[in-house]
Amino acid sequence: MSLFKKKTEERKLPRHIAIIMDGNGRWAKKRSMPRSAGHVAGAKTFKDIARYCNKIGLEYLTVYAFSTENWKRPKDEVDSIMNLLRDYLKDAENFKSDNIKVKFIGNLEPLADDIKELIKKDEDGSKNATGLKLNIAINYGGRDEITNAVKKIVASGISPDSITEQTISDNLYTSGMPDPDFIIRPSGEYRLSNYLIWQSAYAEYWFSDVLWPDFTPKHLEKAIEEYNHRHRRFGGV
Ligand code: IPE
Ligand code: IPE
Ligand code: MG
Repeated sequence: MSLFKKKTEERKLPRHIAIIMDGNGRWAKKRSMPRSAGHVAGAKTFKDIARYCNKIGLEYLTVYAFSTENWKRPKDEVDSIMNLLRDYLKDAENFKSDNIKVKFIGNLEPLADDIKELIKKDEDGSKNATGLKLNIAINYGGRDEITNAVKKIVASGISPDSITEQTISDNLYTSGMPDPDFIIRPSGEYRLSNYLIWQSAYAEYWFSDVLWPDFTPKHLEKAIEEYNHRHRRFGGV
């Protein structure tokens, strides 16, 4: 029996995995390369991992690609990330043949017009895909998302007494999706950095020192293996 087959039969998959794709800059620095080269390597890892998640039958994968705080970086680094996003979007046909359904989450408004058009094309083009549901978080911040939800709720004129936790969830970018079961952060940092802060209330976490460009399906399998040994109680016994 192949390793892949054995693994898929033996272990339980989370429904929704979220990944903080971190460590590109340090990966490049270690090689005396510009930070942008780290982002190029990280983008390749992203494609490999998304395809792998699709192959093993994962339902939802949400990746953190650019945060609302990442605009603080030097302009040339931000530009290089936006150009990589353009390249990815122009290349998105690749994912179509994988039957992956792509959605972008975050405040997309400040992005360049051509990027917004490409995003729409990518989402429309994959809307009937039935494989992995891939969410890419761009200009995403959990606090920004909640603030935006509150604005929408207030504008709807709903009476305060009728607001429930579900009302909040329904007004987030992830509306209609299950909360992430499992959050993975490589690069040796132990924080959420404003990622899915509402949705991760009962998520399990997995941290690793590996830098994102070095992250492989083997690391993901190791993480899933650990997930299988977690006991989720959701406050019960
Ligand atoms: C993650 O890698 C990519 C983005 C935040 C866009 P970093 O660029 O944060 O890499 P490090 O943390 O500096 O190594
Ligand atoms: C989080 O990484 C954002 C992304 C991976 C896109 P950062 O590198 O921006 O996080 P901090 O600044 O180390 O918390
Ligand atoms: Mg970082």
